[in-house]
Amino acid sequence: MADPYYITTAIHYPNGRPHIGHAYEMIAADAIARFQRQAGRDVRFQTGTDEHGLKMAQTARAQGMETRAFADKMSSYFSDMASALNISYDRFIRTVEADHYTASQTIWRAMQASGDLYLDRYEGWYSVRDEAFYDEKELVDGEGGQKLSPQGTPVEWTAEETWFFRLSKYQQPLLDLYASNPDFIRPESRRNEVLRFVEGGLSDLSVSRTSFDWGVPVPDSPGHVMYVWVDALTNYLTGAGYPDDAAMMARYWPADLHLIGKDITRFHTVYWPAFLMSANLPLPRQVFAHGFLLHRGEKMSKSLGNVVGPDELIDAFGVDAVRYFLLREVSFGQDGSYSADAIVTRVNAELANSFGNLAQRTLSFIAKNLGGTMPAEGRGDPADAMLIEEIVVACAGLRTAFDDLMMSQGIEAWMRGVFACNQYIDAQAPWALRKTDPERMHAVLRTLVRAIRMLAIAILPVVPNSAGKVLDQIGAEARDHAAIDDDGWYARQAAAGFVIAPPTPVFPRLELPVAAEA
Ligand code: MSP
Repeated sequence: MADPYYITTAIHYPNGRPHIGHAYEMIAADAIARFQRQAGRDVRFQTGTDEHGLKMAQTARAQGMETRAFADKMSSYFSDMASALNISYDRFIRTVEADHYTASQTIWRAMQASGDLYLDRYEGWYSVRDEAFYDEKELVDGEGGQKLSPQGTPVEWTAEETWFFRLSKYQQPLLDLYASNPDFIRPESRRNEVLRFVEGGLSDLSVSRTSFDWGVPVPDSPGHVMYVWVDALTNYLTGAGYPDDAAMMARYWPADLHLIGKDITRFHTVYWPAFLMSANLPLPRQVFAHGFLLHRGEKMSKSLGNVVGPDELIDAFGVDAVRYFLLREVSFGQDGSYSADAIVTRVNAELANSFGNLAQRTLSFIAKNLGGTMPAEGRGDPADAMLIEEIVVACAGLRTAFDDLMMSQGIEAWMRGVFACNQYIDAQAPWALRKTDPERMHAVLRTLVRAIRMLAIAILPVVPNSAGKVLDQIGAEARDHAAIDDDGWYARQAAAGFVIAPPTPVFPRLELPVAAEA
Protein backbone atom coordinates (compact mmCIF):
# COMPACT_ATOMS: atom_id res chain seq x y z
CA MET A 1 0.00 0.00 0.00
CA ALA A 2 1.24 3.48 -0.85
CA ASP A 3 3.00 5.51 1.79
CA PRO A 4 0.51 7.95 3.38
CA TYR A 5 1.02 11.71 3.27
CA TYR A 6 -1.30 13.97 5.27
CA ILE A 7 -1.13 17.67 4.46
CA THR A 8 -3.27 20.49 5.84
CA THR A 9 -3.72 24.20 5.34
CA ALA A 10 -4.73 26.51 8.15
CA ILE A 11 -8.49 26.68 8.39
CA HIS A 12 -9.61 30.15 7.44
CA TYR A 13 -11.76 32.54 9.46
CA PRO A 14 -14.78 33.19 7.29
CA ASN A 15 -15.65 36.48 8.96
CA GLY A 16 -14.97 38.22 5.66
CA ARG A 17 -14.67 37.18 2.05
CA PRO A 18 -11.56 35.25 1.05
CA HIS A 19 -8.68 37.23 -0.37
CA ILE A 20 -5.64 36.33 -2.41
CA GLY A 21 -3.62 35.53 0.75
CA HIS A 22 -6.03 32.70 1.55
CA ALA A 23 -5.88 31.57 -2.06
CA TYR A 24 -2.09 31.53 -1.95
CA GLU A 25 -2.00 29.07 0.92
CA MET A 26 -4.53 26.72 -0.70
CA ILE A 27 -2.65 26.83 -4.01
CA ALA A 28 0.69 26.03 -2.40
CA ALA A 29 -0.80 23.14 -0.43
CA ASP A 30 -2.58 21.89 -3.53
CA ALA A 31 0.59 21.87 -5.61
CA ILE A 32 2.37 19.91 -2.88
CA ALA A 33 -0.55 17.49 -2.54
CA ARG A 34 -0.70 16.91 -6.30
CA PHE A 35 3.06 16.50 -6.45
CA GLN A 36 3.06 13.88 -3.69
CA ARG A 37 0.13 12.06 -5.30
CA GLN A 38 1.97 12.02 -8.58
CA ALA A 39 4.97 10.59 -6.75
CA GLY A 40 2.78 7.71 -5.61
CA ARG A 41 1.98 8.76 -2.05
CA ASP A 42 -1.45 8.09 -0.60
CA VAL A 43 -2.26 11.75 0.00
CA ARG A 44 -4.89 13.10 2.34
CA PHE A 45 -5.35 16.84 1.98
CA GLN A 46 -7.52 18.95 4.24
CA THR A 47 -8.54 22.58 4.20
CA GLY A 48 -11.60 24.34 5.58
CA THR A 49 -13.03 27.09 7.75
CA ASP A 50 -12.55 28.04 11.39
CA GLU A 51 -15.96 29.24 12.42
CA HIS A 52 -16.04 29.72 16.19
CA GLY A 53 -14.75 32.55 18.34
CA LEU A 54 -15.66 36.05 19.29
CA LYS A 55 -14.74 37.57 15.93
CA MET A 56 -17.30 35.43 14.10
CA ALA A 57 -19.97 36.08 16.73
CA GLN A 58 -19.36 39.83 16.66
CA THR A 59 -19.28 40.09 12.87
CA ALA A 60 -22.53 38.13 12.57
CA ARG A 61 -24.17 40.41 15.12
CA ALA A 62 -22.95 43.50 13.32
CA GLN A 63 -24.58 42.19 10.16
CA GLY A 64 -27.80 41.42 11.99
CA MET A 65 -27.49 37.71 11.30
CA GLU A 66 -27.77 34.64 13.45
CA THR A 67 -24.20 33.33 13.91
CA ARG A 68 -24.72 29.88 12.41
CA ALA A 69 -26.53 31.27 9.37
CA PHE A 70 -23.74 33.79 8.90
CA ALA A 71 -21.11 31.03 9.20
CA ASP A 72 -22.93 28.88 6.64
CA LYS A 73 -23.06 31.69 4.15
CA MET A 74 -19.48 32.85 4.63
CA SER A 75 -17.94 29.38 4.68
CA SER A 76 -19.44 28.73 1.26
CA TYR A 77 -17.35 31.57 -0.19
CA PHE A 78 -14.24 29.67 0.87
CA SER A 79 -15.37 26.33 -0.51
CA ASP A 80 -16.37 28.11 -3.74
CA MET A 81 -12.92 29.65 -3.89
CA ALA A 82 -11.34 26.23 -3.41
CA SER A 83 -13.33 24.92 -6.39
CA ALA A 84 -12.46 27.92 -8.53
CA LEU A 85 -8.77 27.39 -7.73
CA ASN A 86 -8.97 23.70 -8.59
CA ILE A 87 -7.94 22.65 -5.08
CA SER A 88 -7.85 18.86 -4.85
CA TYR A 89 -8.75 18.56 -1.16
CA ASP A 90 -10.09 15.36 0.33
CA ARG A 91 -12.04 17.16 3.00
CA PHE A 92 -13.20 20.72 3.44
CA ILE A 93 -13.75 20.76 7.17
CA ARG A 94 -16.06 23.17 8.96
CA THR A 95 -15.52 23.43 12.69
CA VAL A 96 -19.29 23.46 13.27
CA GLU A 97 -19.49 19.81 12.16
CA ALA A 98 -20.53 17.15 14.66
CA ASP A 99 -17.42 14.95 14.39
CA HIS A 100 -15.29 17.99 15.09
CA TYR A 101 -17.17 18.63 18.34
CA THR A 102 -16.50 15.04 19.33
CA ALA A 103 -12.79 15.33 18.51
CA SER A 104 -12.44 18.63 20.39
CA GLN A 105 -14.17 17.34 23.47
CA THR A 106 -12.13 14.14 23.39
CA ILE A 107 -8.79 15.92 23.28
CA TRP A 108 -10.02 18.21 26.03
CA ARG A 109 -10.79 15.23 28.24
CA ALA A 110 -7.40 13.73 27.47
CA MET A 111 -5.64 16.95 28.52
CA GLN A 112 -7.77 17.00 31.64
CA ALA A 113 -6.86 13.39 32.42
CA SER A 114 -3.20 14.41 32.30
CA GLY A 115 -3.88 16.99 34.99
CA ASP A 116 -3.11 19.87 32.65
CA LEU A 117 -6.37 21.82 32.99
CA TYR A 118 -7.41 23.89 36.01
CA LEU A 119 -10.00 26.58 36.71
CA ASP A 120 -8.84 30.08 37.61
CA ARG A 121 -9.56 33.69 36.87
CA TYR A 122 -8.05 35.16 33.71
CA GLU A 123 -7.21 38.82 33.72
CA GLY A 124 -5.32 40.14 30.76
CA TRP A 125 -5.31 41.33 27.20
CA TYR A 126 -7.16 39.78 24.30
CA SER A 127 -7.19 40.67 20.63
CA VAL A 128 -10.44 39.73 18.95
CA ARG A 129 -8.94 40.23 15.51
CA ASP A 130 -6.12 37.76 16.25
CA GLU A 131 -8.23 35.64 18.64
CA ALA A 132 -5.15 35.69 20.85
CA PHE A 133 -4.15 36.45 24.43
CA TYR A 134 -1.08 38.62 24.90
CA ASP A 135 1.20 39.33 27.83
CA GLU A 136 1.45 42.95 28.89
CA LYS A 137 5.14 42.93 27.94
CA GLU A 138 4.35 42.01 24.34
CA LEU A 139 2.07 44.98 23.68
CA VAL A 140 3.11 48.03 21.72
CA ASP A 141 1.82 51.60 21.93
CA GLY A 142 -0.42 52.74 19.14
CA GLU A 143 -1.57 56.24 18.32
CA GLY A 144 -2.91 58.18 21.31
CA GLY A 145 -1.37 55.69 23.73
CA GLN A 146 -3.80 52.96 22.69
CA LYS A 147 -2.40 49.50 23.39
CA LEU A 148 -1.93 47.22 20.40
CA SER A 149 -0.94 43.61 19.94
CA PRO A 150 2.44 42.88 18.35
CA GLN A 151 0.45 42.37 15.13
CA GLY A 152 -0.89 45.91 15.45
CA THR A 153 -4.46 44.88 16.26
CA PRO A 154 -6.53 46.42 19.10
CA VAL A 155 -6.55 44.57 22.42
CA GLU A 156 -9.14 44.67 25.15
CA TRP A 157 -8.89 43.97 28.85
CA THR A 158 -10.59 40.69 29.70
CA ALA A 159 -11.44 39.36 33.15
CA GLU A 160 -13.40 36.15 33.58
CA GLU A 161 -13.27 32.70 35.12
CA THR A 162 -11.66 30.32 32.64
CA TRP A 163 -9.96 26.99 32.34
CA PHE A 164 -6.20 27.16 32.07
CA PHE A 165 -3.86 24.80 30.28
CA ARG A 166 -0.50 24.16 31.97
CA LEU A 167 1.58 25.40 29.08
CA SER A 168 4.43 26.29 31.46
CA LYS A 169 4.95 22.58 32.12
CA TYR A 170 5.82 22.05 28.44
CA GLN A 171 8.63 24.56 28.09
CA GLN A 172 11.40 21.97 28.36
CA PRO A 173 9.61 19.25 26.34
CA LEU A 174 9.07 21.80 23.56
CA LEU A 175 12.70 22.91 23.59
CA ASP A 176 13.69 19.23 23.45
CA LEU A 177 11.38 18.74 20.49
CA TYR A 178 12.90 21.66 18.55
CA ALA A 179 16.40 20.39 19.34
CA SER A 180 15.77 16.79 18.38
CA ASN A 181 13.78 17.62 15.26
CA PRO A 182 15.36 20.69 13.66
CA ASP A 183 12.95 20.49 10.72
CA PHE A 184 9.86 20.63 12.90
CA ILE A 185 9.57 24.37 12.23
CA ARG A 186 10.49 25.79 8.84
CA PRO A 187 11.82 28.09 7.58
CA GLU A 188 14.80 28.76 9.83
CA SER A 189 13.77 32.37 10.57
CA ARG A 190 10.48 31.21 12.08
CA ARG A 191 12.23 28.48 14.03
CA ASN A 192 14.54 31.03 15.61
CA GLU A 193 11.60 33.25 16.59
CA VAL A 194 9.82 30.38 18.26
CA LEU A 195 12.97 29.26 20.08
CA ARG A 196 13.45 32.73 21.52
CA PHE A 197 9.82 32.91 22.57
CA VAL A 198 9.83 29.55 24.34
CA GLU A 199 13.23 30.11 25.93
CA GLY A 200 11.77 33.30 27.42
CA GLY A 201 9.36 31.17 29.51
CA LEU A 202 5.76 30.15 28.98
CA SER A 203 2.72 31.26 30.95
CA ASP A 204 -0.24 28.97 31.34
CA LEU A 205 -2.83 29.55 28.66
CA SER A 206 -6.46 30.48 29.12
CA VAL A 207 -8.38 27.89 27.11
CA SER A 208 -12.06 28.59 27.73
CA ARG A 209 -14.38 31.57 27.60
CA THR A 210 -17.52 32.33 29.58
CA SER A 211 -18.55 35.72 28.20
CA PHE A 212 -20.09 34.27 25.00
CA ASP A 213 -21.31 30.91 23.83
CA TRP A 214 -20.27 30.56 20.15
CA GLY A 215 -17.87 27.66 20.50
CA VAL A 216 -17.49 24.02 21.40
CA PRO A 217 -18.89 23.44 24.91
CA VAL A 218 -16.30 22.42 27.50
CA PRO A 219 -17.25 18.94 28.75
CA ASP A 220 -19.00 18.99 32.13
CA SER A 221 -18.45 22.71 32.60
CA PRO A 222 -21.66 24.61 31.93
CA GLY A 223 -21.15 28.17 30.70
CA HIS A 224 -17.68 27.49 29.25
CA VAL A 225 -16.89 27.23 25.56
CA MET A 226 -13.41 26.31 24.36
CA TYR A 227 -11.01 29.04 23.36
CA VAL A 228 -11.32 29.05 19.58
CA TRP A 229 -7.71 27.98 18.97
CA VAL A 230 -8.19 24.79 20.99
CA ASP A 231 -10.93 23.59 18.72
CA ALA A 232 -9.38 25.12 15.59
CA LEU A 233 -6.10 23.23 15.95
CA THR A 234 -7.97 20.03 16.68
CA ASN A 235 -9.43 20.14 13.15
CA TYR A 236 -6.27 18.39 11.99
CA LEU A 237 -7.11 15.41 14.20
CA THR A 238 -10.79 15.43 13.27
CA GLY A 239 -9.74 15.09 9.65
CA ALA A 240 -7.62 12.04 10.49
CA GLY A 241 -10.54 10.22 12.08
CA TYR A 242 -9.88 11.08 15.73
CA PRO A 243 -11.11 9.66 18.04
CA ASP A 244 -13.32 6.93 16.61
CA ASP A 245 -11.68 5.78 13.39
CA ALA A 246 -8.59 3.99 14.65
CA ALA A 247 -7.60 2.66 11.24
CA MET A 248 -7.68 6.10 9.68
CA MET A 249 -5.75 7.59 12.59
CA ALA A 250 -3.12 4.91 12.28
CA ARG A 251 -2.78 5.69 8.62
CA TYR A 252 -2.79 9.49 8.54
CA TRP A 253 -1.73 10.68 11.97
CA PRO A 254 0.70 12.26 12.65
CA ALA A 255 0.28 14.76 9.82
CA ASP A 256 3.29 15.12 7.54
CA LEU A 257 2.85 18.83 6.99
CA HIS A 258 0.84 21.69 8.44
CA LEU A 259 1.11 24.53 5.97
CA ILE A 260 0.33 27.87 7.57
CA GLY A 261 1.10 31.58 7.33
CA LYS A 262 3.86 33.10 9.45
CA ASP A 263 1.43 35.03 11.67
CA ILE A 264 0.11 31.86 13.27
CA THR A 265 3.39 30.06 13.88
CA ARG A 266 3.17 30.28 17.66
CA PHE A 267 -0.19 28.52 17.76
CA HIS A 268 1.10 25.67 15.62
CA THR A 269 4.57 25.19 17.04
CA VAL A 270 4.02 25.95 20.73
CA TYR A 271 0.40 25.45 21.73
CA TRP A 272 -0.43 22.62 19.35
CA PRO A 273 2.48 20.29 20.16
CA ALA A 274 1.92 21.02 23.87
CA PHE A 275 -1.77 20.04 23.59
CA LEU A 276 -0.81 16.88 21.74
CA MET A 277 1.88 15.94 24.24
CA SER A 278 -0.61 16.46 27.02
CA ALA A 279 -3.14 14.24 25.25
CA ASN A 280 -0.44 11.61 24.59
CA LEU A 281 -0.80 11.91 20.83
CA PRO A 282 2.02 11.88 18.26
CA LEU A 283 3.22 15.25 16.98
CA PRO A 284 3.00 16.46 13.38
CA ARG A 285 6.23 15.98 11.45
CA GLN A 286 6.57 19.52 10.19
CA VAL A 287 5.04 22.98 10.33
CA PHE A 288 5.99 25.22 7.44
CA ALA A 289 5.12 28.91 7.76
CA HIS A 290 4.90 30.69 4.43
CA GLY A 291 5.28 34.41 4.07
CA PHE A 292 2.70 37.08 3.44
CA LEU A 293 1.48 38.14 0.08
CA LEU A 294 1.54 41.87 -0.40
CA HIS A 295 -0.01 43.97 -3.11
CA ARG A 296 2.73 45.94 -4.85
CA GLY A 297 4.77 45.61 -1.68
CA GLU A 298 2.00 46.92 0.57
CA LYS A 299 -0.08 45.10 3.11
CA MET A 300 -3.57 44.40 1.82
CA SER A 301 -6.17 46.26 3.79
CA LYS A 302 -9.71 47.41 3.33
CA SER A 303 -8.74 51.01 4.06
CA LEU A 304 -6.09 51.01 1.29
CA GLY A 305 -8.70 49.56 -1.04
CA ASN A 306 -6.17 47.06 -2.43
CA VAL A 307 -7.81 43.83 -1.31
CA VAL A 308 -8.17 41.72 -4.43
CA GLY A 309 -10.59 38.82 -4.50
CA PRO A 310 -9.19 35.67 -6.09
CA ASP A 311 -12.24 35.65 -8.39
CA GLU A 312 -11.15 38.86 -10.05
CA LEU A 313 -7.72 37.46 -10.81
CA ILE A 314 -9.09 34.15 -12.03
CA ASP A 315 -11.57 35.95 -14.28
CA ALA A 316 -8.88 38.22 -15.66
CA PHE A 317 -6.06 35.72 -16.15
CA GLY A 318 -7.36 32.17 -15.69
CA VAL A 319 -6.77 29.90 -12.74
CA ASP A 320 -3.55 28.28 -13.96
CA ALA A 321 -1.90 31.63 -14.64
CA VAL A 322 -2.65 32.69 -11.06
CA ARG A 323 -1.39 29.40 -9.65
CA TYR A 324 1.78 29.51 -11.72
CA PHE A 325 2.52 33.11 -10.88
CA LEU A 326 2.13 32.73 -7.13
CA LEU A 327 4.24 29.59 -6.88
CA ARG A 328 6.91 30.89 -9.24
CA GLU A 329 7.18 34.49 -8.12
CA VAL A 330 7.46 33.98 -4.38
CA SER A 331 10.33 32.05 -2.89
CA PHE A 332 8.36 29.83 -0.52
CA GLY A 333 8.69 31.01 3.06
CA GLN A 334 9.43 34.62 2.12
CA ASP A 335 6.96 37.46 1.74
CA GLY A 336 6.01 38.16 -1.83
CA SER A 337 4.35 40.81 -3.86
CA TYR A 338 1.82 40.55 -6.65
CA SER A 339 0.22 42.92 -9.09
CA ALA A 340 -1.63 42.52 -12.35
CA ASP A 341 1.35 43.62 -14.42
CA ALA A 342 3.71 41.24 -12.59
CA ILE A 343 1.32 38.37 -13.36
CA VAL A 344 1.08 39.33 -17.02
CA THR A 345 4.84 39.73 -17.41
CA ARG A 346 5.78 36.48 -15.70
CA VAL A 347 3.10 34.32 -17.28
CA ASN A 348 3.67 35.67 -20.78
CA ALA A 349 7.43 35.23 -20.56
CA GLU A 350 7.42 31.72 -19.13
CA LEU A 351 4.16 30.04 -20.01
CA ALA A 352 2.82 31.75 -23.14
CA ASN A 353 6.08 32.60 -24.93
CA SER A 354 8.19 29.71 -23.71
CA PHE A 355 6.45 26.47 -22.81
CA GLY A 356 3.15 27.28 -24.50
CA ASN A 357 4.84 28.40 -27.67
CA LEU A 358 7.08 25.32 -27.71
CA ALA A 359 4.09 22.98 -27.50
CA GLN A 360 1.94 24.97 -29.88
CA ARG A 361 4.61 25.37 -32.58
CA THR A 362 5.67 21.74 -32.45
CA LEU A 363 2.21 20.19 -32.40
CA SER A 364 0.67 22.46 -35.01
CA PHE A 365 3.64 21.79 -37.29
CA ILE A 366 3.04 18.06 -36.97
CA ALA A 367 -0.69 18.48 -37.47
CA LYS A 368 -0.16 20.58 -40.55
CA ASN A 369 2.74 18.86 -42.24
CA LEU A 370 2.43 15.23 -41.20
CA GLY A 371 -1.35 15.07 -41.03
CA GLY A 372 -0.93 14.72 -37.26
CA THR A 373 0.82 11.35 -37.36
CA MET A 374 3.55 10.94 -34.81
CA PRO A 375 6.86 11.50 -36.64
CA ALA A 376 8.77 8.35 -37.54
CA GLU A 377 12.11 7.40 -36.00
CA GLY A 378 14.07 9.49 -38.53
CA ARG A 379 17.79 10.06 -38.41
CA GLY A 380 19.02 10.65 -34.87
CA ASP A 381 21.82 12.89 -33.76
CA PRO A 382 23.71 13.21 -30.44
CA ALA A 383 21.91 16.54 -29.95
CA ASP A 384 18.64 14.62 -29.49
CA ALA A 385 19.89 12.50 -26.63
CA MET A 386 21.52 15.57 -25.13
CA LEU A 387 18.23 17.42 -25.09
CA ILE A 388 16.41 14.51 -23.47
CA GLU A 389 19.15 14.37 -20.86
CA GLU A 390 18.72 18.08 -20.13
CA ILE A 391 14.98 17.54 -19.71
CA VAL A 392 15.59 14.64 -17.34
CA VAL A 393 17.86 16.85 -15.26
CA ALA A 394 15.36 19.73 -15.29
CA CYS A 395 12.47 17.51 -14.19
CA ALA A 396 14.59 15.89 -11.50
CA GLY A 397 15.49 19.38 -10.31
CA LEU A 398 11.82 20.24 -10.01
CA ARG A 399 11.22 17.05 -8.10
CA THR A 400 13.98 17.53 -5.58
CA ALA A 401 12.94 21.12 -4.96
CA PHE A 402 9.22 20.31 -4.58
CA ASP A 403 10.07 17.52 -2.17
CA ASP A 404 11.70 20.20 -0.07
CA LEU A 405 8.78 22.67 -0.54
CA MET A 406 10.92 24.99 -2.63
CA MET A 407 8.40 25.37 -5.42
CA SER A 408 9.81 28.50 -7.00
CA GLN A 409 13.26 26.94 -7.34
CA GLY A 410 11.64 23.79 -8.72
CA ILE A 411 9.82 25.72 -11.42
CA GLU A 412 13.05 27.53 -12.21
CA ALA A 413 14.77 24.19 -12.79
CA TRP A 414 11.86 23.19 -15.03
CA MET A 415 12.20 26.42 -17.01
CA ARG A 416 15.79 25.47 -17.80
CA GLY A 417 14.37 22.43 -19.57
CA VAL A 418 11.96 24.62 -21.53
CA PHE A 419 14.80 26.94 -22.55
CA ALA A 420 16.89 23.97 -23.61
CA CYS A 421 14.06 22.92 -25.95
CA ASN A 422 13.85 26.36 -27.45
CA GLN A 423 17.59 26.45 -28.07
CA TYR A 424 17.36 23.01 -29.62
CA ILE A 425 14.62 24.18 -31.97
CA ASP A 426 16.65 27.20 -33.01
CA ALA A 427 19.72 25.05 -33.61
CA GLN A 428 17.90 22.23 -35.43
CA ALA A 429 15.43 24.45 -37.32
CA PRO A 430 12.98 21.64 -38.11
CA TRP A 431 10.85 23.96 -40.26
CA ALA A 432 13.78 24.41 -42.63
CA LEU A 433 14.44 20.66 -42.69
CA ARG A 434 11.03 19.94 -44.13
CA LYS A 435 12.26 20.26 -47.66
CA THR A 436 15.97 19.61 -47.23
CA ASP A 437 16.09 16.66 -44.85
CA PRO A 438 12.74 15.17 -43.80
CA GLU A 439 14.49 12.20 -42.16
CA ARG A 440 16.26 14.50 -39.76
CA MET A 441 13.12 16.58 -39.26
CA HIS A 442 11.29 13.48 -38.07
CA ALA A 443 13.90 12.78 -35.42
CA VAL A 444 13.83 16.39 -34.22
CA LEU A 445 10.04 16.51 -33.93
CA ARG A 446 9.99 13.18 -32.23
CA THR A 447 12.53 14.39 -29.67
CA LEU A 448 10.45 17.52 -29.08
CA VAL A 449 7.24 15.59 -28.51
CA ARG A 450 9.02 13.43 -25.95
CA ALA A 451 10.44 16.52 -24.24
CA ILE A 452 7.06 18.27 -24.20
CA ARG A 453 5.48 15.24 -22.60
CA MET A 454 8.06 15.10 -19.84
CA LEU A 455 7.85 18.82 -19.15
CA ALA A 456 4.05 18.72 -19.07
CA ILE A 457 4.01 15.82 -16.59
CA ALA A 458 6.47 17.61 -14.33
CA ILE A 459 4.49 20.86 -14.24
CA LEU A 460 1.06 19.21 -13.72
CA PRO A 461 0.96 19.92 -9.96
CA VAL A 462 1.31 23.64 -10.68
CA VAL A 463 -0.97 24.05 -13.72
CA PRO A 464 -3.09 20.90 -13.74
CA ASN A 465 -5.67 22.04 -16.29
CA SER A 466 -3.36 23.42 -18.92
CA ALA A 467 -0.56 20.86 -18.62
CA GLY A 468 -3.30 18.23 -18.73
CA LYS A 469 -4.55 19.70 -22.02
CA VAL A 470 -1.06 19.53 -23.52
CA LEU A 471 -0.84 15.87 -22.51
CA ASP A 472 -4.26 15.22 -24.04
CA GLN A 473 -3.07 16.75 -27.29
CA ILE A 474 -0.35 14.12 -27.55
CA GLY A 475 -2.43 11.37 -26.03
CA ALA A 476 -0.15 10.87 -23.04
CA GLU A 477 -2.22 9.03 -20.51
CA ALA A 478 0.28 8.09 -17.80
CA ARG A 479 0.65 11.25 -15.78
CA ASP A 480 2.46 9.98 -12.76
CA HIS A 481 5.99 11.04 -12.22
CA ALA A 482 7.21 7.46 -12.21
CA ALA A 483 6.30 7.24 -15.91
CA ILE A 484 8.14 10.41 -16.85
CA ASP A 485 11.27 8.65 -18.14
CA ASP A 486 9.29 6.00 -20.00
CA ASP A 487 11.35 5.61 -23.16
CA GLY A 488 8.87 3.28 -24.74
CA TRP A 489 5.96 5.69 -24.54
CA TYR A 490 6.62 7.38 -27.84
CA ALA A 491 7.09 4.16 -29.82
CA ARG A 492 3.89 2.67 -28.40
CA GLN A 493 1.95 5.81 -29.11
CA ALA A 494 3.23 6.01 -32.69
CA ALA A 495 2.55 2.30 -33.28
CA ALA A 496 -0.99 2.76 -32.00
CA GLY A 497 -1.46 5.38 -34.71
CA PHE A 498 -2.27 8.31 -32.45
CA VAL A 499 -3.12 11.41 -34.46
CA ILE A 500 -2.28 14.88 -33.18
CA ALA A 501 -5.19 17.16 -33.96
CA PRO A 502 -4.56 20.82 -34.88
CA PRO A 503 -3.98 22.19 -31.36
CA THR A 504 -5.55 25.25 -29.80
CA PRO A 505 -3.04 27.24 -27.74
CA VAL A 506 -3.14 26.12 -24.11
CA PHE A 507 -1.27 29.09 -22.64
CA PRO A 508 -2.69 32.23 -24.27
CA ARG A 509 -0.82 35.51 -24.00
CA LEU A 510 -2.32 37.61 -21.22
CA GLU A 511 -3.35 41.22 -21.63
CA LEU A 512 -3.34 43.71 -18.81
CA PRO A 513 -6.97 44.51 -17.97
CA VAL A 514 -7.63 48.22 -18.41
CA ALA A 515 -8.91 48.59 -14.85
CA ALA A 516 -5.75 47.04 -13.39
CA GLU A 517 -3.26 49.29 -15.16
CA ALA A 518 -3.62 52.07 -12.62
N1 MSP B 1 -8.36 30.59 11.65
C1 MSP B 1 -6.98 30.84 11.83
C2 MSP B 1 -6.15 29.61 11.55
C3 MSP B 1 -6.53 28.39 12.34
S1 MSP B 1 -5.58 27.02 11.88
C4 MSP B 1 -5.95 25.86 13.01
C5 MSP B 1 -6.55 31.97 10.91
N2 MSP B 1 -7.36 32.25 9.88
S2 MSP B 1 -7.11 33.39 8.79
O1 MSP B 1 -8.24 33.34 7.92
O2 MSP B 1 -6.83 34.62 9.43
O3 MSP B 1 -5.82 32.98 8.01
C6 MSP B 1 -5.80 31.76 7.33
C7 MSP B 1 -4.45 31.54 6.70
O4 MSP B 1 -4.26 32.52 5.68
C8 MSP B 1 -3.31 31.70 7.69
O5 MSP B 1 -2.33 30.70 7.50
C9 MSP B 1 -2.76 33.06 7.35
O6 MSP B 1 -1.39 33.18 7.63
C10 MSP B 1 -2.99 33.11 5.85
N3 MSP B 1 -3.01 34.47 5.35
C11 MSP B 1 -3.85 35.49 5.71
N4 MSP B 1 -3.48 36.61 5.03
C12 MSP B 1 -2.41 36.36 4.24
C13 MSP B 1 -1.66 37.08 3.30
N5 MSP B 1 -1.86 38.34 3.03
N6 MSP B 1 -0.69 36.40 2.64
C14 MSP B 1 -0.46 35.07 2.83
N7 MSP B 1 -1.15 34.37 3.71
C15 MSP B 1 -2.08 34.99 4.49
O7 MSP B 1 -5.48 32.52 11.12
